[in-house]
Amino acid sequence: MERILIGQRSEIVIDRGLVSGDVLPSRSSRDLVAVFTQPGAAHIAELVAAGVTALSVRQMVLPDRDTAKTLGVAATAYEWLAEMGMSRHGTIVGVGGGSVTDLAGFVAATYLRGIEVVYVPTTLLGAVDAAIGGKTGVNLGGKNLVGAFHHPIRVVVDLDILDQLPEELKREGMAEALKAGLIGDRALFAHLESAGMEADLNVVVSRAISVKAAVVGEDFRETGIRETLNYGHTIGHAVEIAAGVPHGHAVAMGMVAAGRIAEEMVGFSDADRQRQAIVKLGLPVHAEGVSRRRVLDVLAQDKKRDASGARMVLLRSIGDPVVLAVSGQMIDMGLSSIGVG
Ligand SMILES: NC(=O)c1ccc[n+]([C@@H]2O[C@H](COP(=O)([O-])OP(=O)(O)OC[C@H]3O[C@@H](n4cnc5c(N)ncnc54)[C@H](O)[C@@H]3O)[C@@H](O)[C@H]2O)c1
Repeated sequence: MERILIGQRSEIVIDRGLVSGDVLPSRSSRDLVAVFTQPGAAHIAELVAAGVTALSVRQMVLPDRDTAKTLGVAATAYEWLAEMGMSRHGTIVGVGGGSVTDLAGFVAATYLRGIEVVYVPTTLLGAVDAAIGGKTGVNLGGKNLVGAFHHPIRVVVDLDILDQLPEELKREGMAEALKAGLIGDRALFAHLESAGMEADLNVVVSRAISVKAAVVGEDFRETGIRETLNYGHTIGHAVEIAAGVPHGHAVAMGMVAAGRIAEEMVGFSDADRQRQAIVKLGLPVHAEGVSRRRVLDVLAQDKKRDASGARMVLLRSIGDPVVLAVSGQMIDMGLSSIGVG
């Protein structure tokens, strides 16, 4: 079993067959455990619930995907927890993709001013990104507009579960894993570059989590180095909203656009290599038919924007990110490179 620590707060364990054992860290008294899950992961939540040691274990299946991430669903969850008598000594377990862990984490951060939470991510994106780093939240008009930082005490990543994911869900996660390689692990990038979707999941998961854990460990809240995790996400997020494409696809296109801008601004010489690695993973590099006006409107509303213009993560070289203010002209050039006209 591999174990990665984020400070003293959080441990991430990676292995096979973990969901059929007890996913909770051992401690003396644990009366109630509340398991949150989603339709696509409910069968895994059953296994998790059967394996934990507690006086009583209850389960709630949330609505699927981001329809789970609302204040209304959070309110239903609080009432459910209050009715069962959940105290500060209980534990919430989120079993599912990022929408479940975001909601479960938000509920855990706020119920009784914060109780223990454990995540069992069941998507690759959840394992390498959403479950790591302590960001929780719900959507309110904008995505993740309401949230809190609350680290899970433990994240349990079962590679057997991730191996069985449908190809498209796996590809979504590969986009974030590739991002992790690009910002902080040349060997991970090289592995994905050569193996594409045949990459060794053990290597991908462990190395991608290590990159995020290292960044988050240094920078608990989103300042400084943590911003580098947004690589590909400034333009990517705008394309995601404007074009309604899946998050991983949008991040892939966002990285291509950032690559073009970095060529111009900081002399990045591996933009072609990056593009080829994205293509090899079966992720898109073009967003034809998307309105530039619409993308620019979303960018203008981006909550991460500051007074100096859009801040973007750019690569000086693979593994060497820098965060810079980027002019409208540069953004236009980036958008042109992904066919947004
Ligand atoms: N907190 C963070 O730092 C962070 C980072 C990145 C993304 N996120 C959030 O994560 C969410 C997206 O997460 P996601 O992509 O993991 O998807 P998701 O939770 O929306 O789930 C996607 C789909 O996969 C299904 N599913 C889950 N596990 C499965 C399995 N093992 N087999 C088959 N189907 C399964 C689900 O039922 C759902 O239909 C977004 O809300 C995003 O905002 C959060």
